Amino acid sequence: MSFDLVLFGGTGDLAWRKLLPALFQAFRHGTLPAGGRIIAIARDDHSDEQYRSLIRSRFEEVDLAKRPSAEEFERFAGLLHYLRLDASKPEDFERLARTVKERNADVAVVYLAVGPALFAPVCEQLAAHGLNTANTRIVLEKPLGHDLESNRAINETVRGAFGENQIFRIDHYLGKPSVQNLFALRFGNALFEPLWRRDTIASIEITIAEDLGVEKRGAFYDTTGALRDMVQNHALQLLCAIAMEPPINAHADAIRDEKLKVLRSLKAWTPPDLQQHVVRGQYAAGTIDGEHVPGYRDERGVDPQSTTETFVALRAEIASWRWAGVPFYIRTGKRLAGRDAHIVVNFRQTPHAIFNTPAGAANRLMISLQPRDGLQLHLLAQGQENRRNGHTLSPVHLDLDFDRRFGSERVGAYERLLLDVIDGRLNLFVRSDEQEEAWRWVEPILEWWANDENGPRPYAAGTWGPSASSAMIARDGYCWSEEL
Ligand code: BG6
Repeated sequence: MSFDLVLFGGTGDLAWRKLLPALFQAFRHGTLPAGGRIIAIARDDHSDEQYRSLIRSRFEEVDLAKRPSAEEFERFAGLLHYLRLDASKPEDFERLARTVKERNADVAVVYLAVGPALFAPVCEQLAAHGLNTANTRIVLEKPLGHDLESNRAINETVRGAFGENQIFRIDHYLGKPSVQNLFALRFGNALFEPLWRRDTIASIEITIAEDLGVEKRGAFYDTTGALRDMVQNHALQLLCAIAMEPPINAHADAIRDEKLKVLRSLKAWTPPDLQQHVVRGQYAAGTIDGEHVPGYRDERGVDPQSTTETFVALRAEIASWRWAGVPFYIRTGKRLAGRDAHIVVNFRQTPHAIFNTPAGAANRLMISLQPRDGLQLHLLAQGQENRRNGHTLSPVHLDLDFDRRFGSERVGAYERLLLDVIDGRLNLFVRSDEQEEAWRWVEPILEWWANDENGPRPYAAGTWGPSASSAMIARDGYCWSEEL
């Protein structure tokens, strides 16, 4: 199958850090269809050769195991082409249209790895130049707007040029092998389904912690913040994956219908909820891996008076028969104690105790997303130390390490998603109504913050965020997994 991948933002960060390395991995593993051409688009002047050598030098920064040898790069570079294009010039789109139509590949993928301000003008020009044929797929990178209104406006313009089944909205968390394993755990095994409900589950925790700061993206991040950057999309998609009903089949719309139902059932915020169940934080200077790191307000591109949050913790509830009353705690932040993303399902304690157990001990299922991909099932058992007292139980766990079991060289998120776009599989992409529902739910938080003069609570870099986050969850009698 021949394909053209037209990559807007071809010289940008995302292209060389994620997309081209992912395409190279697919090329190396022989999963990228053979008749491919990648047309990188940007405003600078480059010949094909100059672009290839630019990418070759960028690839030097890729992890050694994923870096091409000279011979591999030569072969991969054969796919790479460059086209200068200024999005404000219709004549430049004319040149692009000629290039694409001349070859008339089976599939044309247009990937918009550019700021959302360009989505509408680019889509309009693509349509005006006949680049929205039935075999064209358009890929949109987040952020898709900064609130419900701007998100709707983008979706409307894009839908003016492309059908919904041609639009691939990326949430790269859905491409992670660990998230696919979560679907497999829930819908490929009968074991947990009967337990997956309010009668047996006491609470659920979703943590996406990063130890990195805002790096070179200070100016962008300062107008975004953790709620828009991580909660509205990645964290809520994880919540959907953990809370959705079993879909009727594995087709994209069956899955997306169920995710949408979860988002629609999220309990609406009231002012007391917002006050008690949402914590925002901002990192101050601190220590990460023994090194001093600056506070957020001292990062390049960040306003020294900024009130942008780099941390959010919140408690959500899903109003449904399955989940009513079960708290879902979501937490994400930058410059936290480590890079660690996991979901913890806390089961209820036994209804009647005949053994002595450590205080608060109960079964737990820990789904680790990164850096390690695995499952841990925490049980209570009689340990060797209790020789004289058989009535005392100790916590033990069954540990399944998917990296060790399947090899850590598994298909990465972007590699998976790019191949899915080329093959036209929409399962792991987000539908517009899901996005809108997620915006609708987070907007009251944004409005609340805009009028709350207290601003975010400071936390030292290298910690687990402001103490108010622990206090929030402790009020319900729970604690975050690392505090157990
Ligand atoms: C991106 C956010 O969507 O996800 C970044 O914009 C964040 O701020 C990144 O660092 C985290 O992705 P991952 O795959 O490294 O957990």
